[in-house]
Amino acid sequence: MTPIGTPLSPHASKVMLLGSGELGKEVLIALQRLGVETIAVDRYDNAPGQQVAHHARTLTMSDPAQLKALIEQDQPHLVVPEIEAIATPMLEELEAAGVVRVVPTARAARLTMDREGIRRLAAETLGQPTSPYQFCDSLVELQAAIDQGIGYPCVVKPVMSSSGKGQSKIDGPADVQKAWDYAMAGGRVNRGRVIVEGFIDFDYEITLLTVRARGAEGQIETHFCEPIGHIQVNGDYVESWQPHPMPAAALELSRHIAKTVTDDLGMGLDGQPSGLGLYGVELFVKGDQVWFSEVSPRPHDTGLVTLTTQHQSEFELHARAILGLPVNTALRSPGASAVIYGGVDAQGVVFDGVAEALRVPNTDLRLFGKPESFVKRRMGVALAFDADVEVARVNAKLAASKVKPRVV
Ligand SMILES: Nc1ncnc2c1ncn2[C@@H]1O[C@H](COP(=O)(O)OP(=O)(O)O)[C@@H](O)[C@H]1O
Ligand SMILES: [Mg+2]
Repeated sequence: MTPIGTPLSPHASKVMLLGSGELGKEVLIALQRLGVETIAVDRYDNAPGQQVAHHARTLTMSDPAQLKALIEQDQPHLVVPEIEAIATPMLEELEAAGVVRVVPTARAARLTMDREGIRRLAAETLGQPTSPYQFCDSLVELQAAIDQGIGYPCVVKPVMSSSGKGQSKIDGPADVQKAWDYAMAGGRVNRGRVIVEGFIDFDYEITLLTVRARGAEGQIETHFCEPIGHIQVNGDYVESWQPHPMPAAALELSRHIAKTVTDDLGMGLDGQPSGLGLYGVELFVKGDQVWFSEVSPRPHDTGLVTLTTQHQSEFELHARAILGLPVNTALRSPGASAVIYGGVDAQGVVFDGVAEALRVPNTDLRLFGKPESFVKRRMGVALAFDADVEVARVNAKLAASKVKPRVV
């Protein structure tokens, strides 16, 4: 989509974000800096990204008719899914009809919105190592899958869910019913289908940010960021850091798995390399052994750390790559991020302790501007850099702990 035009003119280059949370907000800012006209779509008004875009639209993105009408009305050059709960078959139709280009591809958005699509692709089609798994449609099927090979401990997740919603670990027969009920209550749409995975006793897990960008001759090249280490609590990220030290063999294998999966997801309708953009490949590591877990065909929450660690954050990398521009994935400094939760259920909270947080050496903050706080909603993130990644981790957590959302 070069050359880039002038926003709000007949020659604007227009990009529509489907989902405008904290990750979308940063992508929108990066696009605006490059002179792109931006349209922020979300299911509620005043979503973080809507506050910084040229245009804000509120609708149900999982409704194919509403989504089609919006795209036909606004005529963006690119549609960028930021969340999974989208009517992706409609996007595939519109992409196939040449109405719009979907980032990275409509097929990638469809395959990754559902744990089944991406897991079967990675493990069965592409032969990549994953945890042992089964898909189940009932409690009886779940128990049978565990008894017939998955074993204990294992992890149950709704096929349509994110941020650990509806996900739990099963340590023995007494937990099975509870895990099934929890998954049924926590899935995004109540399809009553779960994945049960053997528990991987990994040493650590990483996000390998992988970028497909155009090279000087127009060819698509794959670039990797330094591995990001992170800690998940109940399936939700609370802390991340970059770089995470890794043995050379495990890093090489991680890159191989990431390239294999993103090469496939990035294939165009004509079978030619396409699928420009940044992907967050989640991997489990134990010694030199690596398992593929899942992939986001878009910036990843644990990658918020790159706002302080890289010359180009994951959001800038995504913006550049999708526009067909060159990227630089080099690290600027080791650093860390720590999540700031709402801590309260309330509308329009105020944040105490911001100045104290920013007095912690080499720190920065993002407060996302979400109109409503929940106890476990991510409202902001603290960032810290330091030559010593462990110092950065301590400082990011310290800064995050000083920020206190409060009911007015
Ligand atoms: N099979 C597994 N073995 C061990 N830990 C797991 C397994 N599956 C998930 N986890 C843990 O739960 C976290 C969230 O699971 P994930 O599949 O990434 O769900 P989500 O889509 O909600 O991010 C992972 O980052 C990891 O820490
Ligand atoms: Mg995950």
